[in-house]
Amino acid sequence: MTLAITGPTSGIGEETLKALVKSFDEILILARNERKATEMIKSFPTSIQPKMRFVQIDLSDLKSVQRASEAILASTSQLDVLINNAGGIFQKKEITVDGLELSFAANHLGHFLLTENLIPLLLKSKNPKVINLSSEAHRAAKIDFENLAQCQNGYSSFTAYANAKLCNILFAKSLVDKYGDKGLHAYALHPGVVKTRFGNEAGGIFKFMWKLAEPFMITAAKGAATSIYLASQDISPKFNGYYFKNSKPNTPTSTARSKEVRDKLWDLSEQLIQKLLNSPAK
Ligand SMILES: NC(=O)c1ccc[n+]([C@@H]2O[C@H](COP(=O)([O-])OP(=O)(O)OC[C@H]3O[C@@H](n4cnc5c(N)ncnc54)[C@H](OP(=O)(O)O)[C@@H]3O)[C@@H](O)[C@H]2O)c1
Repeated sequence: MTLAITGPTSGIGEETLKALVKSFDEILILARNERKATEMIKSFPTSIQPKMRFVQIDLSDLKSVQRASEAILASTSQLDVLINNAGGIFQKKEITVDGLELSFAANHLGHFLLTENLIPLLLKSKNPKVINLSSEAHRAAKIDFENLAQCQNGYSSFTAYANAKLCNILFAKSLVDKYGDKGLHAYALHPGVVKTRFGNEAGGIFKFMWKLAEPFMITAAKGAATSIYLASQDISPKFNGYYFKNSKPNTPTSTARSKEVRDKLWDLSEQLIQKLLNSPAK
């Protein structure tokens, strides 16, 4: 059994990895920082370390995602579980090397490309799963497809994050629309309000509220529980494509459940990838 996880160098991803490590024969550590990934691998017992393989990926850079995908396709014959865990909220508007707004790129589009590229490996598994880390923040989304990828009409860090976390739910459901009949399972989840490095890069009112909430936050180990549950348990087929919270199906917003919205997001994501991957290197 092979697991691939993005963002395992910190917080929820690291705790998810610690809990799942014994259940997998091969683990792809998809991280942007080689030093951190190597140190993290070395923190595991020497008997476990050989199962883990670092693959360099910056999810905010489509060409980096493409290189990582190619490296995985060349060296792995099957993928059983892909956990799209990496993400963050960013105080200032930042534009990536591809000309995209960072929250959209790192939380959604990089994972969209990675998952699409790895579909052939996932479909070789008997019980393939894709798990997207979303958030209750999706309830504050104000999705505007004209503005989603670049935020030209003004930037709010929380709205950009909320929109990207809505994309994570829409994308999980779209995967089931497209590949569910071939055996793919896909889920999105809210991990809880978790004390990790998350929010350190935020500012303004969000940072203030986040600091106030700190005493009530759960640990990263507890925040990993729903990811671990979805990765390791057999989930009833009737919940395929669902959004989970506290290891139970939960109802996201009507926008998150809209087929029209998720089809639009899929088309936009495909178009952006086609255009940007074929553009000359900067
Ligand atoms: N904490 C919460 O309360 C909360 C609530 C709802 C949802 N979530 C979601 O849970 C997920 C994990 O968050 P966390 O709380 O564990 O945060 P965290 O401690 O900040 O960890 C984030 C991870 O994502 C990686 N990452 C960020 N940008 C990346 C990029 N461009 N390319 C590759 N890796 C990247 C980070 O790598 P580095 O180590 O290199 O920085 C780190 O491993 C996120 O998707 C977040 O939106 C968290």
